[in-house]
Amino acid sequence: MIQIRSCEGFDELEACVELQIETWGYDESDAIPRKTFLLAQRIGGQVLGAFEAGTLVGFAMSLPGIKETQNGPRPYLHSHMLAVRESYRNRGLGAQLKWEQRREALSRGIRQMEWTFDPLEIKNAFLNIHRLGAVSRTYLVDFYGVSSSRLQGGLPTDRLLAEWELDSSRVEAFLQGHPAGAHQIEERIVVPASIDQWKASEASRERAFIVQSENREKFKQAFTRGLAAVGFSRDAEGNGVFELGHLPEARFEAKEE
Ligand SMILES: CC(C)(COP(=O)(O)OP(=O)(O)OC[C@H]1O[C@@H](n2cnc3c(N)ncnc32)[C@H](O)[C@@H]1OP(=O)(O)O)[C@@H](O)C(=O)NCCC(=O)NCCS
Repeated sequence: MIQIRSCEGFDELEACVELQIETWGYDESDAIPRKTFLLAQRIGGQVLGAFEAGTLVGFAMSLPGIKETQNGPRPYLHSHMLAVRESYRNRGLGAQLKWEQRREALSRGIRQMEWTFDPLEIKNAFLNIHRLGAVSRTYLVDFYGVSSSRLQGGLPTDRLLAEWELDSSRVEAFLQGHPAGAHQIEERIVVPASIDQWKASEASRERAFIVQSENREKFKQAFTRGLAAVGFSRDAEGNGVFELGHLPEARFEAKEE
């Protein structure tokens, strides 16, 4: 029986720090310390845990933010970390933590969440876009700079910004397991199934770097043309396929500079 709930007390926050290091292999300069988890909770963010018999097996951490929109400033949550212990993965816990983030945010009147994810991580794209109904129309080049994350494989930390409009009919439909009506797909961007292997070894890393560079340009050009990543699928070979189309106007449009 897994329980999803807010973390409480220093020990549970420390367990998040440990699971963070276990997951990403961060060195001291990159790891987020317990006191930042504590502050995240205190200032209106979230530290949610998945517990089995009192032991933390997953967590999601978010920070509060304010976005200047055309209708004035609006609060939102930036979800900074989502991790599930390896032996507990692919049982729906990651998705459950995200849906609990949504429920908790809406209970406080917060209607939008964002987070970044590596567009080379096929599983994460599948979860974010295909399971949760997030969309992306922003590409961030080398967002964090150099990272000690073992998942990064020494590549630039390019990220897509995921936007999750929590009470939109699109996200509601994904929650019910009935994703919203089909978008007209204008373009597809493919991530090869072998990308993780290529990243993991020094000898093949250059191949991963080439894919990253080529896809970076494709995303940037597509987003400039007003497209957004609205769908994600896997083909028969296990390649990841971003599906890009036009979004109806987003409700939380950022203010023009
Ligand atoms: C990302 C992470 C939190 C997901 O947790 P999880 O509990 O395994 O997620 P879920 O089981 O809810 O969903 C994963 C989905 O991806 C699917 N999946 C698994 N491997 C996949 C792959 N190689 N390619 C595409 N999809 C894959 C699963 O089948 C599942 O989909 P389903 O619900 O249709 O079966 C976990 O893998 C993790 O901790 N990864 C390392 C840290 C990380 O990358 N965090 C996310 C940063 S955005």
